[in-house]
Amino acid sequence: MSMISTHKKIERNVTVLAGLAFITVTIGGIVEIAPLFWIDNTIEKVDGMRPYTPLEQAGRDIYVREGCYVCHSQMIRPFRDEQERYGHYSLAAESMYDHPFQWGSKRTGPDLARVGGRYSDAWHVQHLTNPEAVVPDSVMPKYGFLADTDLHVADMKANLTALNRVGVPYTKADIEKADTDLMAQADPNADAGDLEKRYPKAQIRDFDGNPDRVTEMDALIAYLQVLGTLVDVNAPAAQEELAKEKGR
Ligand code: HEC
Repeated sequence: MSMISTHKKIERNVTVLAGLAFITVTIGGIVEIAPLFWIDNTIEKVDGMRPYTPLEQAGRDIYVREGCYVCHSQMIRPFRDEQERYGHYSLAAESMYDHPFQWGSKRTGPDLARVGGRYSDAWHVQHLTNPEAVVPDSVMPKYGFLADTDLHVADMKANLTALNRVGVPYTKADIEKADTDLMAQADPNADAGDLEKRYPKAQIRDFDGNPDRVTEMDALIAYLQVLGTLVDVNAPAAQEELAKEKGR
């Protein structure tokens, strides 16, 4: 039987054609999907990346609650104009512990992926309280109420446990001390103990200018100030990672 006639037979019999097409697509699908079951992660780790501290995470939850993502993205694309304005383009690993991620599709305000350390805490307090006071033609809403609202997280341990279940590597100690860590990072009188050891580069201080209370403003600014500061994109290890990403 020649090749042509086999082909003809298959093409003229709908059932056989459908059956064979199904088998072919299934094999293709399995080849693509199956490896994902055996590798833990498609993102390569980069030096410096760590889970958020409880305070940063609480700030992030406020960021999501207030809809900051509606106007702000957190992903610097590898284009020259973006890098000149916002800094080095974002690495996949930099958002590997983000749930939900904040890449964003639209920007009304600037990208915030590397805003950490760009402004002082006082600037953020002033800007969040009344954006137009700092940037006269800003259309950003006012969030002054955050400074009057005590930070209240129902169960920080449960939050970290949930994140741990979806792959954020919080340790037992991190989860055990979640509630203490949460308050200690923004309270100059508290004993921040080994917080900095478990969370390298954690910034421990009063963020909102009022050391007597730990407010939602403290948490939000702690979060903003850590964005983009964990990975040193100019360090040799990160450079290697970048070279690999480019080579892909
Ligand atoms: C309606 C859109 C909108 C929303 C919602 C919004 N922003 Fe903005 N944001 C802007 C605009 C526009 C700017 C640029 C002008 C300015 O600096 O105020 C900006 C600027 C900023 C900046 C300064 C960035 C830089 O690099 O100069 C920060 C930080 C910031 N926003 C944080 C936040 C946070 C945190 C929230 C949520 C609590 C938020 N924004 C909600 C529109 C918005």
